[in-house]
Parts: sequence; C-alpha cells; structure tokens
Amino acid sequence: MTSGQHDKGFTLWFTGLSGAGKSTLATRIADELRHRGLRVEILDGDEVRTNLSKGLGFSKEDRDTNIKRIGYVCKLLTRNGVVAISAAISPYREVRDHNRKEIGHFIEVYVKCSIEALTKRDVKGLYKKALAGELKNFTGVSDPYEAPLNPDILVDSGTQRVEESAQAILSYLEQHAWIPKASATPSPHEPGTHAR
Ligand code: ADX
Repeated sequence: MTSGQHDKGFTLWFTGLSGAGKSTLATRIADELRHRGLRVEILDGDEVRTNLSKGLGFSKEDRDTNIKRIGYVCKLLTRNGVVAISAAISPYREVRDHNRKEIGHFIEVYVKCSIEALTKRDVKGLYKKALAGELKNFTGVSDPYEAPLNPDILVDSGTQRVEESAQAILSYLEQHAWIPKASATPSPHEPGTHAR
C-alpha cells in the first residue's frame, strides 16, 4: 500500500462492557496517533451522553439511537480524513454492523473482560449495584451484550496490561497501513528527514 493511505480517515470502533478499558485505550491510541501526525477525535459514550445524546437512557431503542448518532459523526470525520475513535459499549451487533456499512473504513476493536474482573475493579461501583439487583438494564449483568463474532482486533483487558493492548492495536493499524510506522514519522525538529 502507498503512503497516501495514511491521509485517509478511518473509524476505530471500540466495543465492550462498562469499565473494560475502552476510554483508556482510546486516549492512549489517540495520543500516539497525534504524535504520528494524524488528526484524531474521540467520541466517548459517557461524554456524548452529556451533549449529543443528552436525555437518552439505556433501553435498546435509546442505545441504538446513541450508537447511530456516534456512527454518524464518525462517518463525517472519517470522510474528511480524520481518525474517529468511538468508545461506547455499543452492545448490539446489528447497529455496529450498520455503522460499519455506513462508514466503510471501519475497524472494530473488541475490548474483552470477564464479569469477574470487572466486578473486582468496579471503579464506578455499578457492578456491585447491578449484581445486587439495584440497577436494571445494566449491560452484561441485567441487559444483553452481543460480543462481536469476528472483530478486527481483540484485546483482553482482564489479562493484558493497557500497554500490551495498545501495542496490539497499533501493530494491526501499522500492518494494514492505516497509520505510518513510528520510526517512519517525520519530525519537525529533524530537518532532512523525508521518511514518507
Ligand atoms: S451504550 O450502550 O449506549 O453504548 P454508553 O457507552 O453510551 O452505552 O454508556 C455507558 C456508560 O453509562 C457506562 O460506562 C456507565 O458508566 C453508564 N451506565 C449507566 N447506566 C448504565 C446501564 N444500565 N448499562 C450500561 N451502562 C450504564
């Protein structure tokens, strides 16, 4: 593939349970891609729900609306040469596949993590509540999560450290020529470096 490929936008679509590490990985990858000269935007579920999707709840219908909205923004960014990174649970396969079709340049990353590990971590205390029956419709406990059948990238945050998962994602993107390799990135402080 030619280096021109790197001027093309794409969507990196994280999916996985709450607390699995989607936002952490999205931020880590975004920092690295910006460092390599790419333009990046993150659409984070928690944040989108405070503006673009304010007022939406967690019924299937509301989640689908939320995910379609995020997908729509990713599509606009992607076709303008930006790397759009989505970090929302996106529990339903059909809507994720809908976004894949709409966006085209779409890479699905499944951030897997066992309920046991998530319950141990439980940063927001939501698993404890859900398991106690105090939280209805909580994904993975009292609401469905449809894992991707054939994700482009699979990382397991229950067994891998953040940096391991991040490296796996970056390697995939490099191998498929979505991003330039780290060593091939021209630095503004090194005149005469014309790696691309
Ligand atoms: S999605 O299903 O529409 O993709 P999204 O990623 O935007 O979900 O929001 C998930 C976040 O909302 C979780 O990380 C959690 O903090 C919070 N949340 C509150 N209630 C629920 C619930 N019933 N199920 C899942 N997440 C919930």
